[in-house]
Amino acid sequence: MRHIAYSSTAEGLTHEEFASIVEHARAANAERQISGAIAFDGRIVTQIIEGPARQVDELFLTIRRDSRHRGVVLLTRADITESRFDGFGLSRMSPSDLYLISLATEERHGSGDTSLTPLPMDQ
Ligand SMILES: Cc1cc2nc3c(=O)[nH]c(=O)nc-3n(C[C@H](O)[C@H](O)[C@H](O)COP(=O)(O)O)c2cc1C
Repeated sequence: MRHIAYSSTAEGLTHEEFASIVEHARAANAERQISGAIAFDGRIVTQIIEGPARQVDELFLTIRRDSRHRGVVLLTRADITESRFDGFGLSRMSPSDLYLISLATEERHGSGDTSLTPLPMDQ
């Protein structure tokens, strides 16, 4: 199972637009057996996605290409044995709660990309 956490900037994004992204993502992620959480403070997005390795990598590359945000920085990418989230989908969290989960994963697996398989090329 793979864990990816990233941060990005979405300055032009309204809270309504963000809510509709999350609504779509919730169903789409559940279908791919991906779980996770997302936070948005009106400017900065932080998101964690966890699930089957390939699906998580592919979703991250799709999200990274999305023009509704920019400056996507990969915080952690790790091979994990169990998810911190109950059930599939995408929950909304406060930035501080999401940061704590990201820190806990980092403590366990190290920061940056520690996965044994490289992230596929973005085309
Ligand atoms: C900040 C941000 C987070 C996103 N998170 C997800 C996500 O977790 N799951 C997802 O399916 N799409 C997510 N998206 C949307 C994808 O980038 C993309 O638009 C979507 O997967 C395309 O879905 P479609 O092929 O059904 O049109 C996110 C977009 C943004 C800007």
